[in-house]
Amino acid sequence: MMMGLRVCELLSAVSFCCFMLLAVAQITDPSEGVEFKFHLVNWDMRSRSNLVDPIKHLKNWNKGDPCTSRWRGVLCFDSVMTDGYLHVQELQLLNMNLSGSLAPELGKLSQLNILDFMWNDLTGSIPKEIGNIASLKLLLLNGNKLSGSIPNELGYLSKLNRLQIDLNQISGPVPDSFSNLSSIKHLHLNNNSISGQIPPQLSNLSTLIHLLLDNNNLTGYLPSEFSNFPSLSILQLDNNNFNGTKIPVSYGNFSELVKLSLRNCSLQGNVPDLSRIPKLSYLLLENNYLTGSVHASIWKNMSFIAKARLLLDLENNSLSNIVGDLNPPENVTLRFD
Ligand SMILES: *[C@@H]1O[C@H](CO)[C@@H](O)[C@H](O)[C@H]1NC(C)=O
Ligand SMILES: *[C@@H]1O[C@H](CO)[C@@H](O)[C@H](O)[C@H]1NC(C)=O
Ligand SMILES: *[C@@H]1O[C@H](CO)[C@@H](O)[C@H](O)[C@H]1NC(C)=O
Ligand SMILES: *[C@@H]1O[C@H](CO)[C@@H](O)[C@H](O)[C@H]1NC(C)=O
Ligand SMILES: *[C@@H]1O[C@H](CO)[C@@H](O)[C@H](O)[C@H]1NC(C)=O
Ligand SMILES: *[C@@H]1O[C@H](CO)[C@@H](O)[C@H](O)[C@H]1NC(C)=O
Ligand SMILES: *[C@@H]1O[C@H](CO)[C@@H](O)[C@H](O)[C@H]1NC(C)=O
Ligand SMILES: *[C@@H]1O[C@H](CO)[C@@H](O)[C@H](O)[C@H]1NC(C)=O
Ligand SMILES: *[C@@H]1O[C@H](CO)[C@@H](O)[C@H](O)[C@H]1NC(C)=O
Ligand SMILES: *[C@@H]1O[C@H](CO)[C@@H](O)[C@H](O)[C@H]1NC(C)=O
Ligand SMILES: *[C@@H]1O[C@H](CO)[C@@H](O)[C@H](O)[C@H]1NC(C)=O
Repeated sequence: MMMGLRVCELLSAVSFCCFMLLAVAQITDPSEGVEFKFHLVNWDMRSRSNLVDPIKHLKNWNKGDPCTSRWRGVLCFDSVMTDGYLHVQELQLLNMNLSGSLAPELGKLSQLNILDFMWNDLTGSIPKEIGNIASLKLLLLNGNKLSGSIPNELGYLSKLNRLQIDLNQISGPVPDSFSNLSSIKHLHLNNNSISGQIPPQLSNLSTLIHLLLDNNNLTGYLPSEFSNFPSLSILQLDNNNFNGTKIPVSYGNFSELVKLSLRNCSLQGNVPDLSRIPKLSYLLLENNYLTGSVHASIWKNMSFIAKARLLLDLENNSLSNIVGDLNPPENVTLRFD
């Protein structure tokens, strides 16, 4: 009898204990939950907070816990981590008509992999605290009205695979620290007002595939080191003002390049020999001040793989002529006047 009671007490104590453990465990780290919401969303006029949600896409953020109550756009890791908390893994808030600015408190989402605010109406600058999120893989802020310069701290994100801040109003230079983005594949900074010299040391980003810097206010020279990019397939620098500089001869050494787009860049000098770039399919050089002659070997020496085509646009330069066969094969489209 006594024994039975003790066992029973013991069992209920254990299960109570387990229940408590579970109850304690199943919450999100408060700095990623209640505290975070306070800073991020403009719940009442008194808060100093930042994000404005006119269509009330985030109305269920009023209830419960971010992870266990499945707040809209908040995706969490399945399990409790060693610190005893649940953590936010993704913030997917794209295309929600959000306005206002990004809060520095975003930097407290210390386990985040994806931060996605693309296609909203955000203003203000990119908080440097985002550079604290060491786990970040995708940072997607394109299609907003963000201004100010790019924080150097973003260069510390060594796991970042994709950085999209295109189609904003960002000014200032590309930070030198970006040469530390050692996992980056896609760097989309086009359609902003980014100025200054492109840092030549970006060429040590061995994982980079797309480098889009077109439609900015860049000046200076085209870094000759860029031909060292082992994986680069698209380089777009159109509509910048590299006043009077030349296309580096080394650009004939690109190994994986498919598209080289340098339209309206105020380039001068000769078109170097680009015939040894095995996969080149788009060579767009129109609206510059290029001089001299272009050799037909650009397409003649190319070994086209099946279905490959080359679009070569040289219109509106000061080129004298094309040396060699003026009738390119049907795989080659030549624009020249
Ligand atoms: C939401 O944004 C879209 C375009 O991004 C716009 O067409 C629509 O009018 C906006 N809705 C409201 C209620 O602001
Ligand atoms: C790259 O990161 C290292 C530390 O990881 C730092 O010492 C260095 O200053 C960074 N380089 C740039 C250009 O910011
Ligand atoms: C690239 O170069 C910078 C200095 O120029 C260095 O700090 C960084 O570690 C290098 N990154 C890689 C991925 O080699
Ligand atoms: C980027 O800017 C250029 C030049 O202003 C413009 O023609 C182009 O449409 C822009 N791209 C997008 C996607 O808006
Ligand atoms: C580009 O830079 C020049 C000065 O360097 C400045 O006058 C101009 O307003 C800038 N344009 C844009 C679109 O930022
Ligand atoms: C050519 O580039 C300049 C910047 O260097 C820009 O202001 C201008 O709008 C561009 N022209 C076209 C047709 O895009
Ligand atoms: C380009 O540079 C030349 C001199 O090198 C200068 O005369 C001209 O004003 C510059 N053009 C622009 C648009 O900066
Ligand atoms: C192009 O690559 C070849 C072979 O690696 C090298 O000898 C040559 O110096 C390079 N040319 C330029 C201009 O970098
Ligand atoms: C030719 O290119 C120059 C320099 O980019 C530009 O100012 C001019 O408008 C272009 N002309 C045409 C017809 O596109
Ligand atoms: C093109 O190939 C021919 C024959 O293979 C070679 O003689 C010539 O030097 C090459 N031209 C260039 C510009 O590489
Ligand atoms: C054109 O493409 C076909 C495949 O579509 C290929 O067989 C042929 O070799 C190409 N022509 C040249 C001149 O490379």
